[in-house]
Amino acid sequence: MLLKSEKQNVVDDFLVPEHIGIIMDGNGRWAKKRLLPRKFGHREGAKTFKKIALAGKSMGVKFMTFYAFSTENWKRPDDEVEAIMRLFEDYLDDVSSFEKENIRLIFIGDRSALSDVLQNKMKHAEEISRNFDSMTVILAVNYGGRSEICMSVRAIAEKVKNNELDINDIDEKLIEENLYTADIIPPVDLIIRPSGEMRLSNFLIWQSAYAEYYFTDILWPDFKEDDLRDAVKDFSIRNRRFGGI
Ligand code: IPE
Ligand code: IPE
Ligand code: MG
Repeated sequence: MLLKSEKQNVVDDFLVPEHIGIIMDGNGRWAKKRLLPRKFGHREGAKTFKKIALAGKSMGVKFMTFYAFSTENWKRPDDEVEAIMRLFEDYLDDVSSFEKENIRLIFIGDRSALSDVLQNKMKHAEEISRNFDSMTVILAVNYGGRSEICMSVRAIAEKVKNNELDINDIDEKLIEENLYTADIIPPVDLIIRPSGEMRLSNFLIWQSAYAEYYFTDILWPDFKEDDLRDAVKDFSIRNRRFGGI
């Protein structure tokens, strides 16, 4: 049986995870099924992102991380990457809907590879929403779990080199403290991946060590509030043991 912890809400008799991660996959196939260019799928997927973030808020989820662009997605054709970057910009111009909802916005990933315009908009969105506390939405843009761990290790190595830290001080907590998710974002409780793929694709690999997983064949642009509910309901009956009995 699941016991309600301090940080979890109960909705319709089921426990709501504190932190849900979503791998927004299947945009391309959604467009292909309709004989449309892939970028139309990304546009629909961006609308779904907004709807599902609001649905999560109304269910009482405190943190939602959305995987929008991976460090591996640069392998795609230039025109597709450009279309995705333009969509990010449009969406960041339109964060007012999140403001109204008192939602804090945070970005994780390596921003240095993104355009200055995009970086400035991200910074602005984070600054204006800094004190919003109904929910935190985290967008993973140019994010990769492996590169995040390398970043943490480099920061620690620098301190060891400067004699600010002893090698024996390196522990899980320290590695965690140097990840993008440090301080603010708790470990992910439930990872949802639509589109039928059953893999993490480099998403939150450290933070998901004890996550529950939920896979569905629905393509991301078709994902609805009820699908989120189904995932949360399923999570609610899992027996999380964290290595105990
Ligand atoms: C996810 O949808 C969006 C990104 C990775 C940017 P895809 O574009 O991967 O869609 P499929 O997997 O090709 O259908
Ligand atoms: C994962 O989807 C990345 C995002 C959804 C942003 P991909 O479509 O890139 O993953 P693979 O290539 O199928 O593993
Ligand atoms: Mg994909």
